[in-house]
Amino acid sequence: MKRFWMILFVPLVLVSCRSNKADEQARMRVYVDKLMSQMTLEEKLGQLNLPVGGDIVTGGVHGSLSTDDIRQGRVGGLFNLQGVEAIREMQRIAVEESRLGIPLLFGMDVVHGYETVFPLPIALACSWDMAAIERSAQIAAREATADGICWTFSPMVDICHDGRWGRISEGSGEDPYLGSRIAEAMVRGYQGASLSDPETMMACVKHFALYGAVEAGREYNNVYPDDFHAFNEYMQPYKAAVDAGAGSVMAAFNTVHGIPSTGNKWLLTDLLREQWGFSGFVVSDYCGLEQLRDHGVCADKQQAAIQCLEAGLDMDMVSAGLVNLADAVRAGKCSMHDVDAACRRILEAKYMLGLFDDPYRYCDPSRREAVMLCDAHRAEARRIAGESMVLLKNDNSLLPLQKRGTIALIGPLADARTNMTGTWAVTAVPERYKTVREGLQDALRGTNARLLYAKGCNLMYDAEAETIATLFGHEMRDSRSAGAMRAEAMAIARQADVIVAAMGEASEMSGECASRVNIEMPDAQHDLLVELAKLGKPIVLVHFAGRPTVLNWETEHLPAIVESWFGGSESADAIADVLFGEVNPSGRLCVQLPRHVGQYPFSYRQMRTSRVNEEGEFRKYSTCYADVSSQPLYPFGYGLSYTTFEYSDFRLSDSIMALDGSVEARVTVTNTGNRASAEVVQLYICDPVALGVRPYKELRGFERIELAAGESREVVFTMDADRMGYYEPYKFTWTLERGDIEVMIGRNCANVEKRILHVQ
Ligand code: BGC
Repeated sequence: MKRFWMILFVPLVLVSCRSNKADEQARMRVYVDKLMSQMTLEEKLGQLNLPVGGDIVTGGVHGSLSTDDIRQGRVGGLFNLQGVEAIREMQRIAVEESRLGIPLLFGMDVVHGYETVFPLPIALACSWDMAAIERSAQIAAREATADGICWTFSPMVDICHDGRWGRISEGSGEDPYLGSRIAEAMVRGYQGASLSDPETMMACVKHFALYGAVEAGREYNNVYPDDFHAFNEYMQPYKAAVDAGAGSVMAAFNTVHGIPSTGNKWLLTDLLREQWGFSGFVVSDYCGLEQLRDHGVCADKQQAAIQCLEAGLDMDMVSAGLVNLADAVRAGKCSMHDVDAACRRILEAKYMLGLFDDPYRYCDPSRREAVMLCDAHRAEARRIAGESMVLLKNDNSLLPLQKRGTIALIGPLADARTNMTGTWAVTAVPERYKTVREGLQDALRGTNARLLYAKGCNLMYDAEAETIATLFGHEMRDSRSAGAMRAEAMAIARQADVIVAAMGEASEMSGECASRVNIEMPDAQHDLLVELAKLGKPIVLVHFAGRPTVLNWETEHLPAIVESWFGGSESADAIADVLFGEVNPSGRLCVQLPRHVGQYPFSYRQMRTSRVNEEGEFRKYSTCYADVSSQPLYPFGYGLSYTTFEYSDFRLSDSIMALDGSVEARVTVTNTGNRASAEVVQLYICDPVALGVRPYKELRGFERIELAAGESREVVFTMDADRMGYYEPYKFTWTLERGDIEVMIGRNCANVEKRILHVQ
């Protein structure tokens, strides 16, 4: 009987949800139709205009905002204007002083949190914890919307195989499967169940498309993946975010097929809207429209604006190109139909955000007080920061440290408050965050342990280079001589039982326009480490970085390394949690770490090639380097724990699968140590004989499980065409071919067991 009611009830609920959605869509259409029937051409074009609203600097060109433009209906939204009162005032002008009172959108780069700052995206991805990632986006939305923001330029889902590119810090690493799951989690977190909920905001997937493939890792450079690699390596996370319902997409600066993304009809219309069914709006990146001139595909801004509008661009960030198209429309140089379509999409976004019901729904100053950097958000950020750190090395179980004896904390990042969040934290309040030194001090309070501190060196010897590495108020240069600083550090270190070195990249060494070819430990810090190592005392390196770096010397000479990335506002406490064992490290690399910068571009998803050389050492007439191993220093998916795990009983429920069938892959994981911990069980596949060349290994599943000491758990993956297919050459449709598939399960990409599944 119960079953009968379920059979009847579930479809009824589905039908009623669908019809509610259809009703809502119809109401929206009627509302927008009516509004648009009252709009002049100029007012419609005004909706497509997105000038900078405030003082946050994220690009080179700054038009000054004119409130008269808002009154005249020449502005659709503002971005990077901070503060609920300032936003409320701009909204008031739009609603009360413009002819039609259309509310503005307020956008911001809320990339990894607002005032509560979460780990930098590359770090967040190393948690492999989708629930935590979703929660981080949800909290970011709660705080940002309490400050007037209803639209974030995030998630950044660009896959990257090149550690030279500074923006690898903003994405989820090198893998499209992991990247896709994270893209979905972020969209869910920001947008929640309803966009009109005043605690959620609209996501903007960026940078569409292929931005992470910039040649030579150099910022704003061209990209060249062919379509086969574009679909199989780079496109999936954008599509996953679109499928998850992202309300907007940002066009990338780079060209695709030789045409700038911002004015690329194939990309913005044929692929995004027609093939993928995207129904939201597309915004350019900062001045992306007028950059069509720099790319040499348009002679002037008007021509660029016409091309972009025709291509499917709806909103123009900073260039003010679309807003000035009225004459061109009247002269028949571009179509009214395209203007209407773009205007409609912007108005629909405003409708879905609930701005027509209440333009001030994100402008409630009383909410700000209650949620901003509140204890609950900080606790969550601390937990997630702990999960994102990757234990790279831990000889003789040096970690976790005991809370006793003398600990020398040394390094230019040990007491550097403005450095804790990493790049793209434009609304951070560093004065309210702890330094590593304060985090360790708090953790040791009430114990007999003694914490000594010395800065030891500047970030690097060259003061000018340090200025570039510490822009935006993150300066930390010490005026003492290198010799004096080192002498102080050595004297402190001599008194210690253990040395904790807080070293690595400063926050602005990664991020936008922070490409680098030297990705080793900066010179002054390296030299100090060499001196410290000569003391023969145990050294733990707490490494800061916004990109994969080369850690050869450190791996050879130091017993323990924690890749802490940039953990956000609560990272100091999270570092203490990991060092003293309150948290058992469970982060796993979302990018492999190279041995040499010359290996880039470089990914564990190496396509099958001729003259294979799996060992990576030099062998004449095989694919390798003559002077360095072609293997990574630390593989994708790698990370140690304070406990140990054993994998057993890996089996397929059947060794044969029909093309449209499914089979289960099962494995038992046991925590064989004496501490509870999370483990990330990873599933890879290889299709050794396919129409198009496939990688030797590609991630196609993972599960993060918590295991108590001694506990075992069986993990099950369903193997089917969804999980094992790929975009076949030329057609670029998702396909699973007949033949053998290698199914691999393990702790990281270099440590797996294999079974063969025959697909027929
Ligand atoms: C970046 C975008 C960002 C925009 C607005 C651009 O320079 O590429 O990622 O959203 O500025 O700040």
